[in-house]
Amino acid sequence: MRFENVQAVPIILIICFLSEIVSRVEFTNIKCISHDLEFAEVEYCYLKSVNRSYKYASMKTKLYKTPINDATVNLAVFKRMSGYKPFLYNVTVDGCKFLKHKKSYPVANYLYSLFGSHSNMNHSCPYDHDIIVDKLTTDFLNSQVTKVLPFPEGDYLLKTKWFVYGILRVSINVYITLS
Ligand SMILES: *[C@@H]1O[C@H](CO)[C@@H](O)[C@H](O)[C@H]1NC(C)=O
Ligand SMILES: *[C@@H]1O[C@H](CO)[C@@H](O)[C@H](O)[C@H]1NC(C)=O
Ligand SMILES: *[C@@H]1O[C@H](CO)[C@@H](O)[C@H](O)[C@H]1NC(C)=O
Repeated sequence: MRFENVQAVPIILIICFLSEIVSRVEFTNIKCISHDLEFAEVEYCYLKSVNRSYKYASMKTKLYKTPINDATVNLAVFKRMSGYKPFLYNVTVDGCKFLKHKKSYPVANYLYSLFGSHSNMNHSCPYDHDIIVDKLTTDFLNSQVTKVLPFPEGDYLLKTKWFVYGILRVSINVYITLS
């Protein structure tokens, strides 16, 4: 290959780029932790594999002190190298402001697009009900991830921390593999 040939450069770049585009997203694990059982309790949080092609995540968290008018969410993405290392995104968002003006928070909005439509969270504050994510399928994740951003393949961890009135109440960690 003649690297001095300028015509070849864009093709090489495209090949490198394509080889990094992910073709498949898989859930590998999900962990939900309540840090304050008097405030919020995780009723269920699991992955279910119905068969090879149909796999989903569901979660329900009960809220005991509603209505909630103040919530902050920290979302951090980790990629597994030797251990999970911070990768690209670490955003903290005022949840109530975000829900009102999603377009002003592009990274949070992208992450939200991975599950928002499968949850009962899609409304502005206050929150006076339990939080449910219902049957978030691998296929749905695939359509969102490949549609919006090509990520390099590998094992990822999406750590989310949910603070209400400034106190950490719940953590939800989602492990996915891109191949
Ligand atoms: C997997 O399970 C889903 C839901 O029950 C079903 O619709 C689908 O046909 C199944 N696929 C295979 C390959 O068995
Ligand atoms: C994310 O950023 C916050 C503050 O900006 C910092 O305290 C926290 O340690 C960071 N988390 C990670 C995983 O890098
Ligand atoms: C949330 O609701 C708004 C308005 O009802 C809708 O336009 C948007 O598509 C919904 N987003 C998701 C992720 O479901």
